[in-house]
Amino acid sequence: MVVGGVLCRLIALTSLAASTFNTITVEVSTPSFVEPEGLLFCLATPGASLSDATASLVSLAQGGGQFDQTGAQTVFDFGSSGGSLEDVSFFQTKATFWEQNALEHGTVYDVLGTDEYFSESYARRRYDDLQFAHGDALVPSTPTGEGDSANCVLLTGTWKAGTRYALELNVSNPDGVSSPLVVWHAPISYAKIDEGHTRYAVRGSKEGQTCEPRQALRDWGGAELETYDACEVLRSVVGGASETEPESCLADLRTKYLADPLPGVDQHSAKVNVFRSAGGLLESGVDVSTLTNSTCGFNEAFSANFGGECVDCGEGSVEYDLATGKPLSCSCASTRERRAIGGPFCGRFRFPLCGGQATPFCGVSNSTATSARDVAASVCSFYAEKYGDLLERRASALSVAHAYLEDFLELAHSFLDRDDLYAANETFASSFAFDERHGDSPTRRLGVKPNCYHCNGGEFEDFETGQRSKVRDDFFDAVQVFRLIGFVLHTKGYPCDALFSASDPFRKAYGSFTEEVCQAL
Ligand SMILES: *[C@@H]1O[C@H](CO)[C@@H](O)[C@H](O)[C@H]1NC(C)=O
Ligand SMILES: *[C@@H]1O[C@H](CO)[C@@H](O)[C@H](O)[C@H]1NC(C)=O
Ligand SMILES: *[C@@H]1O[C@H](CO)[C@@H](O)[C@H](O)[C@H]1NC(C)=O
Ligand SMILES: *[C@@H]1O[C@H](CO)[C@@H](O)[C@H](O)[C@H]1NC(C)=O
Repeated sequence: MVVGGVLCRLIALTSLAASTFNTITVEVSTPSFVEPEGLLFCLATPGASLSDATASLVSLAQGGGQFDQTGAQTVFDFGSSGGSLEDVSFFQTKATFWEQNALEHGTVYDVLGTDEYFSESYARRRYDDLQFAHGDALVPSTPTGEGDSANCVLLTGTWKAGTRYALELNVSNPDGVSSPLVVWHAPISYAKIDEGHTRYAVRGSKEGQTCEPRQALRDWGGAELETYDACEVLRSVVGGASETEPESCLADLRTKYLADPLPGVDQHSAKVNVFRSAGGLLESGVDVSTLTNSTCGFNEAFSANFGGECVDCGEGSVEYDLATGKPLSCSCASTRERRAIGGPFCGRFRFPLCGGQATPFCGVSNSTATSARDVAASVCSFYAEKYGDLLERRASALSVAHAYLEDFLELAHSFLDRDDLYAANETFASSFAFDERHGDSPTRRLGVKPNCYHCNGGEFEDFETGQRSKVRDDFFDAVQVFRLIGFVLHTKGYPCDALFSASDPFRKAYGSFTEEVCQAL
């Protein structure tokens, strides 16, 4: 799921040869609802090892859109700045504040290890989930005992929210061959826990994102983007060649294959030519002046980014320029989500409603929300109704307590993430969790939260058996879930009075009770 519009694309590579330098071009969009302090990129390829000598930033561009490049600006360019991030205020302002280098090397554990979500007791399993979620793409790359070498770079800077960035990173490819070159990305928030210690949190989806290679790159590098041994290929195609330095072998191979168009004269040609992916999809020279109606495919529009690209309009349609009749953008219904980078440009409904039921997993029906505010209002009324169901005993307290927060995160994914929930919950738990019920309220029949008499650390001792049991009170938990949802919406600037009222935070929340008190269980 795309949380907060966070996305990453792999645009171009300059080399797939093992042990050679490779300039990777990635395009990312930052979360719409928070300015991250850092952007984390990991080379999730076995044997990847990044250090000062083997990883550097070549360029950084900020802003602009897919179809409108106005506002795009260069933040950093190795060529014109002499290669140092030291004098660039974009990096230094934040890096100095956080007492970090603008570009730090490390393993994914250095960052994920302090994230509340991953640092819970079953963190290990969660890491495995992460790996699984990325199709064994080895994120992080080292739990299999391949050594602790750094495979990530963390770039600290004045990143903006909801903004598109294009970066070129110069890295050294690992020395193993036939390994898929995978780049993984996550935007990161920082918090100071004490002097010299920073806590990191992955924003957007906790799984981060594998940077999706664009088609032009797959055309040149192959579907798997696997590394190869340049010297072995050179020997096999030239015979008798005695070069042993990967960079020299690659240089010779490039000379040999330079004039080849796709797919090339043999199976090595396209891979060697992967550096031409940097020139763009339409490298045959198509720009806006030579663009025709048939340059891009069905329902695709032309974007001038990265040497010219065709972008799938998805659930929208191609918009033809009024003056020239050329396919220069996509148009989406205002009820549709749209991507800041890559396709499909127009996506699912902002608030997916299916048959009158809001369901996180329903993308095919329709809804009328056209903004985050509308979505928040729909989320609010949806949960207000569910809250009514709980008070009327039409919904199970257990299922509310167990599942509703996860569903809520899914429904509200465009304007908040799990860390917003954590942050709100901290305030909520310390200031607003309360129980107005009397000790003999029928709703406490099955539980005694939160003020259990004679409880210790949330546990009590069964006076008959002497066993210690955890306090359980599903109804209390369920009511708190609804109040917390209301509080999170409130903290994000979308008040939801039905669930939480800032002017009356301790308003009675448990409804009235008509059930008999002495009811057999
Ligand atoms: C990449 O970095 C290496 C090592 O610093 C350097 O030799 C090489 O010229 C760099 N390549 C580019 C394209 O910046
Ligand atoms: C491209 O196709 C659209 C829709 O069919 C049409 O309106 C437009 O005039 C065409 N433009 C050119 C340059 O052929
Ligand atoms: C949703 O779709 C149904 C059937 O396609 C239609 O009857 C209804 O008017 C649509 N509602 C909205 C809000 O667009
Ligand atoms: C909210 O905070 C309480 C108290 O720290 C904790 O027990 C609970 O698990 C938290 N809930 C969420 C959803 O983080």
